[in-house]
Amino acid sequence: MCGIVGYVGAKQAVPVLLQGLYKLEYRGYDSAGVALLEQGALRVIKTRGRIKNLEELTRQQGPFSATCGIGHTRWATHGEPSDINAHPHVSGNGRVALVHNGIIENYLELREMLKKAGFTIQTQTDSEVVAHLFQMHYRGDVVQALRETVKHLRGSYALGVITADAPDQLVCTRRDNPLIIGVGEGENMIASDIPAILALTKRYIVLSDNQIARITAGGVEVTDELGTPVEPRVETVTWDVAAAEKGGYEHFMMKEIFEQPKAVRDTIAPRLRDGLPALEEEGLSDELFRNVRNIHITACGSALHAGLVGKQVIERLARVPVMAQVASEFRYCDPIIGPEDLCIVISQSGETADTLAALREAKRKGAKVIAIVNVVSSSAAREADGVLYTWAGPEIAVATTKAYSAQLAALYLIAVRAGMARGTLSRQQALDICAHIAGLPRQIEETLACRAQMQHLASLYANRHSVFFIGRGTDHTACQEASLKLKEISYVHSEAYAAGELKHGTISLIEPGTLVVALACEPALVEKTVSNIKAVKARGASVILVTNDDALREDPEICDHLVRVPRCPAVLSPSLSIVPMQLLAYYVSVMRGCDVDKPRNLAKSVTVE
Ligand code: F6R
Repeated sequence: MCGIVGYVGAKQAVPVLLQGLYKLEYRGYDSAGVALLEQGALRVIKTRGRIKNLEELTRQQGPFSATCGIGHTRWATHGEPSDINAHPHVSGNGRVALVHNGIIENYLELREMLKKAGFTIQTQTDSEVVAHLFQMHYRGDVVQALRETVKHLRGSYALGVITADAPDQLVCTRRDNPLIIGVGEGENMIASDIPAILALTKRYIVLSDNQIARITAGGVEVTDELGTPVEPRVETVTWDVAAAEKGGYEHFMMKEIFEQPKAVRDTIAPRLRDGLPALEEEGLSDELFRNVRNIHITACGSALHAGLVGKQVIERLARVPVMAQVASEFRYCDPIIGPEDLCIVISQSGETADTLAALREAKRKGAKVIAIVNVVSSSAAREADGVLYTWAGPEIAVATTKAYSAQLAALYLIAVRAGMARGTLSRQQALDICAHIAGLPRQIEETLACRAQMQHLASLYANRHSVFFIGRGTDHTACQEASLKLKEISYVHSEAYAAGELKHGTISLIEPGTLVVALACEPALVEKTVSNIKAVKARGASVILVTNDDALREDPEICDHLVRVPRCPAVLSPSLSIVPMQLLAYYVSVMRGCDVDKPRNLAKSVTVE
């Protein structure tokens, strides 16, 4: 959701900025732009649409010799996607250019104040006001000007600013929005995310909330909100550029689906000691599990779906009540949570605004908060009391696959450790289930062999307008994720239903030709699900059945197509049954001509409420 880049160094800025913006495309955007300090003056080039349109414009209007500039991909919130609303925005005197991620909540108030002060507002955005405010406060010191500017702002922001009055430097700050500084040799960058800096450097600084950085080719100076210098910690990216490239696959999503065995293995292996989960160092002690009253899981989208599986697994193995709640609702429902409770937030990016707000609410009420996060040093990772990283590597496709699978793996480990601590699992039972967890990467590999079958099934059903996913228990939670995958990347309407709930209303939507995908991987519930399938078959539905039950055969009374997945304990089965569902969604999206990796209206990292 919006992407910021900035560069200062010896190279020509335009290609560096464009390359950085391309690496942030996955975040979702509808317009793009750059601002350059070109021979003492500001040049701004921006346009609605794709970065390649922007690249073409820079070619037509160039060549540019600037070695300092900022760039932006905008995901419209305030004002339609248009050339004028695209960033960078320029101050009234034309000497300040600014890029902004986030939302300025009091922008209407600020617009009125600026209009009274004689400024003309050019755009419908909330961001433009910040450029004018910066101009108002500039008295020869860019850092001081930005510090004064942000005092007026309510809301969330990451900001990058250049001004013709102070060439060859960038100034930036953030609050509740990600921003990193790439530290190179004689050149430095700012960016919303690591892939944007990797062509230049693997070393980076994570700016903390309210810190301000002044960046030149030769250095980075960071101060806190009071102006006190801060010694920044330089971190090093542990994965390489190739990890964020397609590596021969047509789309990132397919590459990431096939990276799932590794993501799950890397998440599990370092945490198994003598075959049992060791989570103490990450903030999850046995004492905590023994004394906990309730566990609250909160997250958004697929991360919440992982949390819903986690709820079932933790409750079954550790017999402790688990509430799983949408993060955007969590803080508004005055949750009953306190020092006796544990809150687990789950997030791939670690920057999702609603998830961060829920994390803060849980902390405010005294609960211990553990974050299951993929992006190292992200806000959730830094703010939680403990972090369990999912070692899935960079996930670029907007639709999550490998991060979701790694989140499941982390939750299984928590469930087993909690069960051991609470005495609901014997050591032997824990060892047995951990052996199955450790075997999941190999079983996911086996499951991936259904790729051709799912491609074939997608070709048969890609033109359906509505699809139902049904299942019971953990199959139902896997259905929720399967349904989201399909709708978000193929724009096909779909719903996930607890199989037994269909007859209470929804079955009236089933008519000849409706596609129903049934998941039946919980041995104790297979028969019940089969009865529900028969009910939809009797009304003319076409049924794809995903099961690990060897007794079930492709039988016209039960299903039209049978997709077999390997057998594993019921609580772990979503890790396997989701794989054919991801592949089905992928191929339907490709066959419908959709943009698989960057579905319309969606952003990878949702940093606004
Ligand atoms: C769907 C998807 C989203 C995210 C959600 C939370 O494929 O990726 O539903 O799961 O936006 O994002 P994170 O995990 O970054 O907090």
